[in-house]
Amino acid sequence: MRIVLVGPPGAGKGTQAVRLAEKLSIPHISTGDLFRANISQGTELGKLAQSYMDKGELVPDSVTIGMAKDRMEQPDAVKGFLLDGFPRNVEQAEALDELLQTEGITLDAVLDLEVSEDEVVKRIAGRRICRNDSSHVFHVTYSPPKKEGVCDVCGGELYQRDDDSEDTVRTRLEIYHTKTEPIIDYYKAQGLVVTISSLGPVGEITQRALEALKREK
Ligand code: AP5
Ligand code: ZN
Repeated sequence: MRIVLVGPPGAGKGTQAVRLAEKLSIPHISTGDLFRANISQGTELGKLAQSYMDKGELVPDSVTIGMAKDRMEQPDAVKGFLLDGFPRNVEQAEALDELLQTEGITLDAVLDLEVSEDEVVKRIAGRRICRNDSSHVFHVTYSPPKKEGVCDVCGGELYQRDDDSEDTVRTRLEIYHTKTEPIIDYYKAQGLVVTISSLGPVGEITQRALEALKREK
């Protein structure tokens, strides 16, 4: 399956993507995780990305589209993928369509995670991620690690993302509404959007998502 996950910052895209990718046996491709890996490796791409991410702004399409395309062309993505955080504006959605067309493939669904702004603020304020791999995600109250400050998956140190400060989150939410939400209409026109509530226990949301995707098949 080829799925795009969309939803505001803190909606639980990363949390659900890891679980859905495992259940559906497809790779989880997160442009945010790819940028964070570049930042921790100190690459030129990482330095550039950080200057935008720290302000909560989108990294320019000129670098984002190429990076996402390279990842989607890896052998493990031939049978399908779950895109998390890409596309994030209409230009990226058009670039993705072009790429899919060239390869003669199509998307199966765009899964839209719905959550209130109040909930987003609570989730982001308590989020802690792993230094080794930013897809290892916890929450101080909602999904605490077994040992405080230590990643359950790999034992790495947990920390708060630089772009999770209150001011930056406000900018990210604004950008979500102005730049990212329009892709929902773009994909509605293609009949691909499935909206589910992202409220409730993590496992229940995964079930909800799997059932909604089954109906789309
Ligand atoms: P990115 O990393 O994609 O961040 P985001 O879209 O803002 O989403 P988040 O990672 O904040 O939230 P999430 O929905 O994954 O929630 P999570 O599962 O962690 O992007 C970061 C930056 O990179 C962007 O601002 C931009 O600068 C750049 N970028 C990335 N892609 C780009 C692109 N395509 N183009 C340009 N720039 C790009 O959950 C949040 C918290 O809630 C966690 O603590 C979790 O434990 C908890 N939680 C999850 N589910 C539940 C639940 N059901 N109940 C209670 N708590 C829950
Ligand atoms: Zn870890």
